[in-house]
Amino acid sequence: MSIKLTDSQLQQLAKIRLWGAATSAHQVEGGTVNQWSGWEQKHAAGRAEESAEQFDSWLPDWDDIRHEAQKSDNYISGGAADHYNRYEEDFEILSELNANAYRFSIEWSRIEPQEGEWSEGAIEHYRRYIAALRKRNIEPVVTLWHWTTPVWFEDRGGFSSRKNVSYFVRFCERVMSELGDSITYVCILNEPNVYAVMSHLMKRWPPQSGSPLRFARVYLNLVRAQKAVYRSIASEGKKIGLAYAVSHVETVTKNPVAQLIAAVVDYGWNVWFLARIKNHYDFIGVNHYFTNFISWKGEVKKHERRSDYGWHMNPIGIADALKTLDRRFGAEIIITENGLADRKDQYREWWIEQTMIGLSDALEAGVHITGYLHWSLLDNFEWAEGFWPRFGLVAVDRANQKRTIRSSAHSYAEVIAQARLANKQ
Ligand code: BGC
Repeated sequence: MSIKLTDSQLQQLAKIRLWGAATSAHQVEGGTVNQWSGWEQKHAAGRAEESAEQFDSWLPDWDDIRHEAQKSDNYISGGAADHYNRYEEDFEILSELNANAYRFSIEWSRIEPQEGEWSEGAIEHYRRYIAALRKRNIEPVVTLWHWTTPVWFEDRGGFSSRKNVSYFVRFCERVMSELGDSITYVCILNEPNVYAVMSHLMKRWPPQSGSPLRFARVYLNLVRAQKAVYRSIASEGKKIGLAYAVSHVETVTKNPVAQLIAAVVDYGWNVWFLARIKNHYDFIGVNHYFTNFISWKGEVKKHERRSDYGWHMNPIGIADALKTLDRRFGAEIIITENGLADRKDQYREWWIEQTMIGLSDALEAGVHITGYLHWSLLDNFEWAEGFWPRFGLVAVDRANQKRTIRSSAHSYAEVIAQARLANKQ
């Protein structure tokens, strides 16, 4: 194994029961029709032009990426990784990687393409899909909302309208009544904080509404959605939670202004939402990608090692992020996403190793972590950036949909095997 972990670290990791990877429907399935699809068509050409401006002078591997990023088809999800049709093949890969858990989302726009019209075909698809996981002893971890919604829902104002929350509740109830018998783990929402900021404050994602008032309305309605769905579907034997973007905030100076900025960023990002939904989750799913380094001027570039996406890489920061979260909320934690864009697979193994060290540190300190799901199983559609960032443990060649397991994935598979073995001893 090329990931080096000590016996005592492995003993800690043995406490984690669920091991695997994650995806979301719109990013891998192909053929989805939701509020993103139309927006992609409209903005693809513009995104291709803007990409040079956005990344040119500073992304480390931009020379390798440019030719893809400047083509408009990069920005159209289209057939994505064709996971909708190739899931059996993808689940075989999960098994090969020793995974026993898989997080995916159920696409609302497939299940209820028009208001109140339920697609039996789509429900049947997900029934077979979950059965295909169960057949391989892979625990499904279902996300009910990974940012995409049916077009009709968006046309009615989406989550900016309080009365629309009931449509979402109805969808979740339908999914649970149809498929609930074969599901234990559910994330109701995915990263409400990222969605509200990107779609309603920074105008980066559809519907690109940049009003603080609308942002506040959406954020509050997402709080209401989590609570209402939880009240409706929580029951004995089920684990109902959410996946939440948790960052680690670190001040790199003693300057009081920096300390204040850090406290505000930390509270706004890592605390506010979770504090509102207290008692409305059985576990917190943690999506962890960043450390926010704060100086008196704002965020500073401390770590020069960057992913293809330009994100500073400090994977070990997950230990402090989890310890802080545990101190604040004391809940069961599943790492529902963690990973990096790394097309050459040059850092992924190192990233996983550092993350495992961070997790064992947090476990030793008593943090209750029961799952680790790497983002992502497959190279996928990375929202406004399209296909060029490659997060997959498995590379997908878009020309022919061929899957190739990256070398780092084999190292991850060995970690899983060892941790699962240690769990049995
Ligand atoms: C999202 C994923 C996304 C990943 C990498 C998370 O914020 O949940 O959909 O692909 O980050 O950017």
